Amino acid sequence: MDRIAEIIRKAKEQARKESDSEPEPSLTSKVEWPVKCEVKPGLDGAIAGETTIGYVNGAKGWLIYRGLDTFDLSEHSTFEETSYLLLFGNLPTKSELAAFTDKIRKYRSVPKSVIDLLRALPLDKAHPMSSLETAVSILGMMDPKAGDTSVENETEISIKLIAQFPTLVGAIARLRAGAEPLDPDPNRSLASDLARLMSGTEPSEEASRIMDVALILHADHGSNASTFTAMVVNSSLSDMYSSIVAGIGSLKGPLHGGANEAVLDDLEEIGSVDNVESWYKAAREKKRKVNGFGHRVYKAYDPRARVLQPLAKLVSEQKPEIRKLYDIAVKLEGLVVADLGKEKKIFPNVDFYSGIVYAAMGIDKAMFTPIFAASRVSGWTARVLEYLKDNRLFRPRAIYVGPINVDYVPIDKRG
Ligand code: COA
Repeated sequence: MDRIAEIIRKAKEQARKESDSEPEPSLTSKVEWPVKCEVKPGLDGAIAGETTIGYVNGAKGWLIYRGLDTFDLSEHSTFEETSYLLLFGNLPTKSELAAFTDKIRKYRSVPKSVIDLLRALPLDKAHPMSSLETAVSILGMMDPKAGDTSVENETEISIKLIAQFPTLVGAIARLRAGAEPLDPDPNRSLASDLARLMSGTEPSEEASRIMDVALILHADHGSNASTFTAMVVNSSLSDMYSSIVAGIGSLKGPLHGGANEAVLDDLEEIGSVDNVESWYKAAREKKRKVNGFGHRVYKAYDPRARVLQPLAKLVSEQKPEIRKLYDIAVKLEGLVVADLGKEKKIFPNVDFYSGIVYAAMGIDKAMFTPIFAASRVSGWTARVLEYLKDNRLFRPRAIYVGPINVDYVPIDKRG
């Protein structure tokens, strides 16, 4: 455990050293509505609301939850405690954490009928993120209070979903592998049980802690695409389940959470350290974006990648096949950063090293994005709840650039 704490402390030191000269935080003071901002395609630069949940400083490479540095949370906290922090705004006292953890324990199981319905899906063909969408949708259909969009009820559903995601993700992983889903073990942490439920094997204490760190680091990240998607859906007062289903759908894409799986495809395709240079040259010639690099907000090294990179090295120590992937990744990082770091501010993002960490735990790469979802559900729900308290339907406009006053031509006179 000390090794992990040491890795995180070193990553923090390095991040601080490199960001000293970067500009001070922006977007941290209250705005006067209506706010003036420059909006680029993809809503780049648009201000969608105010939040106290989390803050990403892209220039300095900071990631903060409720004022706390995620380096410190990764070193000292747990995913349960971090989820409490995101949902309720403060680190819990001992009794608050005990009550929260008790509730999570109580909610861990999912109805057998949900597992049976998952069994009926074409799991060998469907992406597990699609199966996860279906599973959460079914949970919503089975909850007679799903339509109660009061903050109290949606908070309860949020805790339930945070508790049930590892069970669902574990069941999907096992069914895909042709094995029977395991029952959740309420006496384990969510992280440790997630690793066990997916792999079917007992994770070591160190592997459980590494999974915990990964879940903490993925829990929230500003107005990212999936979080914003979940907020947009909930803003119509739909319901929490539908909002989370939409978030899963968004996270699945390779420009967002799906990149972690795509990175492993790339590393496997490269195959050996000797091939990295030619692979990268060909990718650049084809103007192919390299998975796991670049970010809409970070124009510095992603702090999550700073922690995951040495963790990937740690977990690959005794595993030559994984160590090979790690060595390929390090070489690729060197080439990409030398080529695009200075000019375009392209550095590794959270997805570049996370897959290596999970692969070392024996987890199938198709399950990498569902692991991301099992963590991000806490950020999704926290931000949905925050927005719900002062809800206003999201409804941006598009600029119409097509023709107007076109005459209707009967079908036999067209073309
Ligand atoms: N590899 C190579 N070049 C990249 C790149 C990458 N991964 N990401 C961005 N760039 C380049 C673009 O080609 C573009 O160059 P140009 O100015 O010469 O046209 C410039 O950097 C800006 O890229 P753009 O696509 O406009 O940035 P964005 O903010 O829209 O995209 C991402 C952000 C994350 C979607 C993009 O970096 C990407 O597709 N990364 C790969 C997928 C990934 O890892 N996603 C997970 C994100 S956590």
